Amino acid sequence: MKRRKIILVVLFLTVIHTHSLFSQQPVWSETKEQKTQRMEWWRHDRFGMFIHWGIYAMPARHEWVQLYEKIPAAEYRKYFDRFNPDLYNPEEWAAKAKKAGMKYVVLTTKHHDGFCLWDSKYTDYKVTNTPYGEDLIKPFVEAFRAEGIRVGFYYSLIDWHHPHFAFDRNHPPVPTGSEEREKENAKRDMNIYRQYMKDQLRELLTQFGQIDELFMDFSYPGEGGKGHQDWDSEGLARLARELQPQIIINNRMDLGHTDWGWDFITPEQFMPQEWPTVDGERVPWETCQTFSGSWGYYRDQYTWKSTHQLIVMLIETVSKGGNLLLNVGPTARGVFDDRANERLDGIGQWMRFHDRSIYGCTQAPDEYTAPQNCLMTYNPETHRLYIHVLEWPFKSLHLPGMKDKIEYAQLLNDASEIKFHSRTQTGSHTVETSRENDVILTLPVERPNTDVPVIELFLK
Ligand code: GLC
Repeated sequence: MKRRKIILVVLFLTVIHTHSLFSQQPVWSETKEQKTQRMEWWRHDRFGMFIHWGIYAMPARHEWVQLYEKIPAAEYRKYFDRFNPDLYNPEEWAAKAKKAGMKYVVLTTKHHDGFCLWDSKYTDYKVTNTPYGEDLIKPFVEAFRAEGIRVGFYYSLIDWHHPHFAFDRNHPPVPTGSEEREKENAKRDMNIYRQYMKDQLRELLTQFGQIDELFMDFSYPGEGGKGHQDWDSEGLARLARELQPQIIINNRMDLGHTDWGWDFITPEQFMPQEWPTVDGERVPWETCQTFSGSWGYYRDQYTWKSTHQLIVMLIETVSKGGNLLLNVGPTARGVFDDRANERLDGIGQWMRFHDRSIYGCTQAPDEYTAPQNCLMTYNPETHRLYIHVLEWPFKSLHLPGMKDKIEYAQLLNDASEIKFHSRTQTGSHTVETSRENDVILTLPVERPNTDVPVIELFLK
């Protein structure tokens, strides 16, 4: 009798153990090669547009205004009640993105304030209940796809509107003192919120066709914060992969401990010094950057980057093997403001003649050293090296160690030949000689009339 009991217990434990082994297995597994393949278009395209849009465009002083100014939900409601972007025309946006050379777009479907840009079944806090009264996302995806631009979605994990999102240090207005916060949170059930996110993600990934990037934002684990367990990030990532197997997911769900819950890392508001690594290995990265500091439309912000700075930012990102997602915050009328348009036009002007040094390019192999005041990108397919000359020198550009490596050189903007030599013997006082193994490019004295001139080197 006793032995039977023991056998039963052992059997029971084995079943439990096997079950937990299975449930821990990721539903998503792929080889490194498969992952590289899946991210192929993304690595090639390099340049995308981020769009932060919602009712925070009305206060026009940062998308975090509700938290920064501790605005109670009832008061924030005034924006919801008046949101009416009557000039919204996503075709115009898509045309601007295309002209700027952007190949994909990522739109905020819901930001931290919880406001939804589509007709979600799971909330009333959505555009269809504002004076505008219509879904913004379907026309958006159609317009961008019509221009050949891939579509990605941003979805905020944080939600200041949902009644079951537990108060934490990133919540407006935060109940003061942890005791009070806990009392309030006792009435909130994160299970309900977790389910809400899954339901909404399912809507987003089933109602709008192929979605190529998913930008979940963001985790802040630890004291007074939230991490992957609070969101059930595993569940969200699994759902996304199941519904859209080709999707590329960012790294803000706190799933760094898995090899399947994230595809790329997302430094923002600074330029990494070098190609970022995780556990010593270079990883895919996409930096998202703003024109002026805030993501949502901010009328009175006067820290706008110049077109030149933005072009250099794009080049520098690619020169370190990364992607740039450059953000526009449309106004509450539904248009890009003049400052954004001016920069997008300027970038487009440059891209028209130089996109060959961006698309399909990456960091140059270590054997090539960038000349002074230059940034280098490299296309491994065509085996061409691109020298971006930030400061135009007088006549000679010295390329260290490039002797016998160059077949042909030209300016990219007009495909005009650039002559080069590696003379080391002294000629006369007007003949310049190069250091051993260096190459001297003979540049025109006049700087080409473009923001950042590029020299294309056809390598041997
Ligand atoms: C941060 C901010 C957010 C913005 C995002 C863009 O996470 O909270 O406002 O949307 O960065 O990456």
